[in-house]
Amino acid sequence: MPFQNLFEPLALGALTIPNRIVMPPLTRMRADSEGTPGPITAQYYAQRASAGLIVAEATAISFPARGYPQMPGIHSSKQVEGWRRVVKAVHARGGRIAIQLVHHGRWSHSLYNPEGGLPVAPSAIGAPGMIYTPTFTQVPFETPRALEAAELPEIVSAFQVAARNAMDAGFDAVEIHGANGFLLDQFLQDGSNRRTDAYGGSIANRARLLFEVVDTAIAEIGRQRLGVRLSPHGNLGGLTDTDPVSDFSYVIAQLSLRGLAYMHLIEPRASSAGIGDDASVDSANNAQLFRRLFAGPVITAGGYTPAMGSEAVQAGLADAVAFGRLFAANPDLPERLLRGANLNAFDRSTAYGGGAHGYTDYPFLVAAEA
Ligand SMILES: Cc1cc2nc3c(=O)[nH]c(=O)nc-3n(C[C@H](O)[C@H](O)[C@H](O)COP(=O)(O)O)c2cc1C
Repeated sequence: MPFQNLFEPLALGALTIPNRIVMPPLTRMRADSEGTPGPITAQYYAQRASAGLIVAEATAISFPARGYPQMPGIHSSKQVEGWRRVVKAVHARGGRIAIQLVHHGRWSHSLYNPEGGLPVAPSAIGAPGMIYTPTFTQVPFETPRALEAAELPEIVSAFQVAARNAMDAGFDAVEIHGANGFLLDQFLQDGSNRRTDAYGGSIANRARLLFEVVDTAIAEIGRQRLGVRLSPHGNLGGLTDTDPVSDFSYVIAQLSLRGLAYMHLIEPRASSAGIGDDASVDSANNAQLFRRLFAGPVITAGGYTPAMGSEAVQAGLADAVAFGRLFAANPDLPERLLRGANLNAFDRSTAYGGGAHGYTDYPFLVAAEA
């Protein structure tokens, strides 16, 4: 059997997943304007229920936490109801689904804030480049407003409420988004965090907000249903760090002590996969650098072919492998790997926004399964 080791079950905290082929979070911008996922999103995730674990796309913990058009949230009862239907559809097909919780921080715009205020960040340092507004037009990033320390408990508590809402919607687990240039990553990396209070300076201080979010979520839903995603060496959103190996070694070792369900690490070679298919060559190998620092299960993501993923598990560099673009394009990815079948190519032009095309119409090997 090809890639046999990817078909062995794995315990992830409270869950046992039947294979090690994970669908990582993929933003698709197809919720309604209030951030509620609809029936098409339930169909899309249900089609991919044969994944060992689905981690649903980055989902906002509040309205101002958004930074993409038509991104979903999980802070209103309507959104929770929408997600409940998604989860039900995945469970009905025998799948397991977690949800990724995010605050976009500076990767946002005042147009996303119902009160119109500037996006918030650790420090008043803008991201380079352009951002999509709620109507899919592009404008330059604004210079964010530095958060007061007194505002941070509200953000921690919004993560906590969102984690509770996720459990109420029936999700099997919650993943805290500490990766890819969003608020928690902006605190971790020193290029975007110039604070001089207890949340800036040393890595212990820069990691404080992430740990507060994680510890509060553990208190709310339990460590066995909580994972964290990190992207050491990741420069998405213009982030930089002067000593990523030392800083992320500390963060990962500290998270290891918390006995989480899993750690999800992105390889920097594919850190810009959300915006383009160029792979950065000669980049650091996060699985090699950090796997040994986390005592629990590690999911690795980023530019993996099935063969590379199988080898990473074989070499003990990870326990499971996430395939992003491959899962977007191949709803029945595990079956295709089992059969050694051809894989559909990912169509980037339909990644973000729109309807069924490029979302629920990627062909299955066996048409009846769609
Ligand atoms: C269309 C698209 C949307 C993405 N959205 C998210 C997201 O919401 N949250 C996240 O952590 N990563 C996101 N990513 C990154 C993927 O989870 C994954 O780490 C990346 O695609 C590399 O894996 P791959 O080479 O198997 O595609 C996205 C990637 C793509 C291509």
